[in-house]
Amino acid sequence: MSELTGSGDFIAGLPKAELHLHIEGTLEPELMFRLAEKNGVDLPYESVEALRAVYDFPNLQGFLDLYYGGMAVLVDGQDFYDLTRTYLERAHAEGIRHAEIFFDPQGHTRRGVPLNVVIEGITAALADGRQALGVSSRLIMCFLRDLSAENAMDTLESALPHREHIVAVGLDSAEVGNPPAKFREVFRRALSEGFLTVAHAGEEGPAEYVMDSLDQLGVSRIDHGVRAMEDPKVVARLAEEGVPLTVCPLSNVRLKVFEDMAEHPFKEMQDVGLRVTVNSDDPAYFASYINDNYRALRDAFDYTEVELADLARSSFKASFLDESDKQKHLREIDTYLASR
Ligand code: HPA
Ligand code: ZN
Repeated sequence: MSELTGSGDFIAGLPKAELHLHIEGTLEPELMFRLAEKNGVDLPYESVEALRAVYDFPNLQGFLDLYYGGMAVLVDGQDFYDLTRTYLERAHAEGIRHAEIFFDPQGHTRRGVPLNVVIEGITAALADGRQALGVSSRLIMCFLRDLSAENAMDTLESALPHREHIVAVGLDSAEVGNPPAKFREVFRRALSEGFLTVAHAGEEGPAEYVMDSLDQLGVSRIDHGVRAMEDPKVVARLAEEGVPLTVCPLSNVRLKVFEDMAEHPFKEMQDVGLRVTVNSDDPAYFASYINDNYRALRDAFDYTEVELADLARSSFKASFLDESDKQKHLREIDTYLASR
């Protein structure tokens, strides 16, 4: 279907939830330059255009190097507020009603930015976004899996005073060589403290990491999970247990997990009964927000409006919202579809 049929507008107006979004990955070059100037941080790029020109990544690590470099401009609470508020404005414009947002505390504490500065800036923007834009949200604290389990445990402990702001803990950064088992004790402690758990698994790492995240980390969702398709046993387990997967199709293409959308297994994942959802991951770095991901899927797999609405329904069903809020959003989708 082409834009001329109006399906582009359909996607933009479709109420949806975003469940896989790194707040630090929403740092657009314009904001990065503004904050660099404000905070006296030297950026090794001449201009916004020169920075955008290096956003061509060979793999996950190539992206992560720039992503951690970009964080250097985030210094005070207002910076974290502005970052988060800017994302929420964009989310609102994209039809997002609810966002479950990752942040990487160790990416900041290791630069000397205190955890409370990070959390207070982000949560103030989330509260204002709820009030001013009607976008609800949850916060998920990720551990950098290329750092030690001890560092993750210390981070978990230092976050306990902020627990009312954090619904879950997750696992991100360089996957290969940093298996779920490394964080078993940390996740056990997080679960015992009442946090839900999620984990990036099967993005660049093997299908085995997806299975191990279920068995050893007690996760409620898998982030990415695309490489689960390489092992029928893992697929069967995910399908049987109805584990939601937060898939980020254009992220996978930008990071060369798949060559292009035609190679992406999204549709096959649906066809074998997996609970897939559509998400943007790091939209500022991948030049693609959530609606770009819906459009790319529609163009690659010829999804109809009814099928796209089903994907939006899945996003709310797989969220950490309570049941009555889920039902409210599902009714809104029914009304939207009926109005077409
Ligand atoms: N994978 C792993 N770590 C990340 C990502 C990702 O896609 N984005 C930000 N940190
Ligand atoms: Zn991610």
